[in-house]
Amino acid sequence: MVLTGEEFRPFSLRPQLPDCPRIAVILPFVGLFAAVIVVATPSICTREQSFADSTPGCKNTATPHVFEPAFLNVSKWIWTGENPTPGGNNIISTRPLRKNITTPCDKCAVCATIVVASRHGHNSNPLHGWYKCNLHYRPVVENPRSPPPTNFQLASTDDSSWAFAAIQGTFQNSVWGQPTLPPVLPLSGSKWIWTSNTANTGAAVASRAFRKTINQCAKVAVCATVLIFADDHYTLYVNGASVGSGSFAGGAAIAYTIPNLLPTLNTFAVNATNDVGSAGLIATILVTYQDGSNETVVTDGSWKASLTVPQGFESPTFDDSDWPNANVVGAYGIAPWGTGLAIPSA
Ligand SMILES: *[C@@H]1O[C@H](CO)[C@@H](O)[C@H](O)[C@H]1NC(C)=O
Ligand SMILES: *[C@@H]1O[C@H](CO)[C@@H](O)[C@H](O)[C@H]1NC(C)=O
Ligand SMILES: *[C@@H]1O[C@H](CO)[C@@H](O)[C@H](O)[C@H]1NC(C)=O
Ligand SMILES: *[C@@H]1O[C@H](CO)[C@@H](O)[C@H](O)[C@H]1NC(C)=O
Repeated sequence: MVLTGEEFRPFSLRPQLPDCPRIAVILPFVGLFAAVIVVATPSICTREQSFADSTPGCKNTATPHVFEPAFLNVSKWIWTGENPTPGGNNIISTRPLRKNITTPCDKCAVCATIVVASRHGHNSNPLHGWYKCNLHYRPVVENPRSPPPTNFQLASTDDSSWAFAAIQGTFQNSVWGQPTLPPVLPLSGSKWIWTSNTANTGAAVASRAFRKTINQCAKVAVCATVLIFADDHYTLYVNGASVGSGSFAGGAAIAYTIPNLLPTLNTFAVNATNDVGSAGLIATILVTYQDGSNETVVTDGSWKASLTVPQGFESPTFDDSDWPNANVVGAYGIAPWGTGLAIPSA
């Protein structure tokens, strides 16, 4: 996976996993900041088995949980040390930086979230970067003091003769300070949905059921992140299992990590309740596939909705074919909610 660009952004990584998985994080940046969260699950590790139970001998025991934002307080700004003074001016250059992450041999990595920032130096600022790994692996990044060689980005490239990156400072103690983490996912492309398209101006005090089935025959789904909010409260289910509940309190959307998607067909179901006044459900789902591609699924008129919440509605085998589609109340930003929902950081 190769990223380019200068902005600070999250992306998810679905590496191919050898027996004792090693994730090559390849960062062809002028400078970098990165935070990596690897969700690992105990497993009898063999390739292709870590995310689905379809092959005997491997069980993915990872379970959904509230998304844990990256924290930056153990990350370091790094560069190549060509100027031996940490944070000192550097020559204008492009430098490759690599990091192998070796997971414990009794675990398989499932998916990772990596947050990277890079920027050219401004004025007298040197080129700079920052790397962080949540799992306390060796804080070692290998790099040569030269432009990226051909194929430097391939996981198979032997970087063992590269020098270690030079630490330029912590975020508390550097000339660049602390980057601001981006939101875990946007809500800007999502629609408020309910069982009436005027639910933002008032709706019955009642619970409603919503379902969305994601069916990708050509690809293998691995993990997902769900960002969700409901007025007034909800319970989210993925493939029949309860993932979490949230309420209007504080106007804060909640993000969940779903590290155990099924390969082909995944069912997202929500029991959402209006306690008073306006009603609405809004969500963004990022699905990551085994081939490294991803798909963003938002609440919209393709979701199914029901005026009642029947027992078992959350089950993947529940037949929602005679449910109508959800009503679209409006885009994120409409009254009364505006754009003020608090969204967790990546
Ligand atoms: C999803 O895939 C697109 C297209 O390859 C890529 O630009 C984007 O960074 C990916 N997003 C995440 C969050 O992985
Ligand atoms: C870093 O921040 C996290 C989350 O706020 C906290 O749990 C952890 O103790 C902090 N670590 C250090 C070394 O300050
Ligand atoms: C990183 O992984 C590559 C590919 O397996 C290997 O050739 C290289 O020696 C590893 N680097 C280090 C420092 O272990
Ligand atoms: C749906 O949510 C409401 C309110 O929390 C609850 O009373 C009801 O039992 C739930 N229904 C199902 C089928 O889970």
